[in-house]
Amino acid sequence: MELLVDLFGYLSIVVHGLTILSQSMALGGVLFLIFLARPLAPALGRAGQGIVAGTARIAGYAALALVASEAATVALQAAVLIETVDLSLGNVLSAEFAVAGLVKTAAAVSMAFVLLSWKDRAPVFGLLALSVIELAAATLTTHAAARLDGREALLAVEGLHQLGAAIWIGGIPCFLLTLARIRDGAAFRLVGSRFSRMSMVGVICILVSGVTMSVVYIGDLAGFYGTAFGVMVGAKIVMFLMLLALGGGNFLLVERLRRNPATPVNRLRRFAEVEFGIGIAIFFAAASLTSVPPSVDLTRDRVSWHEIVVRNTPEWPRLSSPSHDDLALPALQAQLDAEAAAKKAAPQVAFTPGAGDLPPRNADDIAWSEYNHHWAGLIVVLVGLLALLNRAGVGWARHWPLAFLGLAVFLFFRSDPETWPMGDIGFLDSFRDVEVLQHRFFVLLIVAFTYFEWRVRATNWNNQWAKLVFPLLCAAGGTMLLTHSHAIANVKDQLLIELTHTPLALAGIAAGWGRWLEIRLNPRENPIAWRVAGWVWPVCILFCGLLLLGYREA
Ligand code: HEM
Repeated sequence: MELLVDLFGYLSIVVHGLTILSQSMALGGVLFLIFLARPLAPALGRAGQGIVAGTARIAGYAALALVASEAATVALQAAVLIETVDLSLGNVLSAEFAVAGLVKTAAAVSMAFVLLSWKDRAPVFGLLALSVIELAAATLTTHAAARLDGREALLAVEGLHQLGAAIWIGGIPCFLLTLARIRDGAAFRLVGSRFSRMSMVGVICILVSGVTMSVVYIGDLAGFYGTAFGVMVGAKIVMFLMLLALGGGNFLLVERLRRNPATPVNRLRRFAEVEFGIGIAIFFAAASLTSVPPSVDLTRDRVSWHEIVVRNTPEWPRLSSPSHDDLALPALQAQLDAEAAAKKAAPQVAFTPGAGDLPPRNADDIAWSEYNHHWAGLIVVLVGLLALLNRAGVGWARHWPLAFLGLAVFLFFRSDPETWPMGDIGFLDSFRDVEVLQHRFFVLLIVAFTYFEWRVRATNWNNQWAKLVFPLLCAAGGTMLLTHSHAIANVKDQLLIELTHTPLALAGIAAGWGRWLEIRLNPRENPIAWRVAGWVWPVCILFCGLLLLGYREA
């Protein structure tokens, strides 16, 4: 139970991200079924019925996933409240968040039952009623629920926002299923133009509600760059623009199909795959948004533009490391050990991970972390340059993934100096600290994509799925970095660090999906898109390296 309380903050963001994803796919699937699959089935010939049944299946299983993630959310919050505030289960379950969660779960159970048992005959009004109930309950766990002024209107705006997310991003898996089942240009044009129009409705819902919420929750420009809430909405806007570019590309392709049914449609599918991938990253950004206070509520501890400029003014990187013994924790432990030895008593432990206290930090800890980021930056710049050389045709540079292995070993030893193998805290104990857990996850990620990408490039491993591991893990790493938090007491310092990590995360996401497009696009059918994608990811990797080189903590 203690471990659960320790990891609660991070776990609840991850579970909330999965809840938003499954909710969007369930609602998006229902709307796809009602407004596209069913009405167009007769015109799609023999594929029509299969598409309706497949769409009902996707929406049904997404509703089941929503049941699991929402039940986990309520259970997690209830368990932590009972453990930390000593409330009774009855009290906790009568709280608004729990009631809203239970209503969401019940609506999702009913939706799954209707979709998976009635499949293509599922009643439209029943499904729409359940979707409205689910969406209404979902808004009750947003920031709008806690507002005193204009609460109802804000709840409606939140609902519109999540509806837009469901129509557009949530509908893409059903769109991909449909594209995989149809063959002729006329069918592609029919489905493509209908989904384009639906997506436009989704975009308008998201934009109108997103801007409204930004005005209400962020208020001004200083709220954008000076608070964690503002920075995360900024990250969402950047990804939204990426999605608009891809969606725009697909809209133009559908228009071309209208003029020439023989137009190749591979790009339609590949852009939709990437839209869905970036959409998932936005869902996790939205989930971490709900865990921080709206900017308007954070009037103190904001970061000023001047502080951002000072912190990001380039300086020569720190290439020599402070000694491990001079770090705050080892120094404190040595002092406690000396005091205990003098008293012939058992030494006290300076820091217990997960015990709720933050580890002590001194100037050497900051120097240690900057040294880590700068050397990591040098390695990533090297990878980016080698990948660009390889892209330009230099054969030996194809071994560039191996440089990432050096980064993984470097991070394993140095990212958490208080834990094994450099520090006193044991390997297993260290996992109680969310930051250590995330660092170890990133090391594993780097080792995994290094192995696959090097084998694909250097040993001509011609396995289509193996080729997709690097882009997927790269995008996953970027997405997880969006939810990454630092155990630092000072809110301003935390945000100044986040201001470096957020563009790093966005570049990681762009690199992953750029490489995905380079692999999945047909260079003969889409030479320009393929070439652009092939240059985007190495440039993004290089940009990540330069960002790490400019990283500072003081
Ligand atoms: C495809 C693009 C987008 C998707 C899929 C998306 C999705 C979401 C979702 C699902 C939430 C609700 C999270 C929750 O409370 O459970 C959310 C929250 C939010 N979104 Fe978006 N969003 C997108 C773009 C935008 C844009 C462009 C803006 C700003 C112009 C924006 C502003 C916000 C704000 C301010 C919130 C916070 C609401 C709160 O804290 O209660 N979003 N977004």
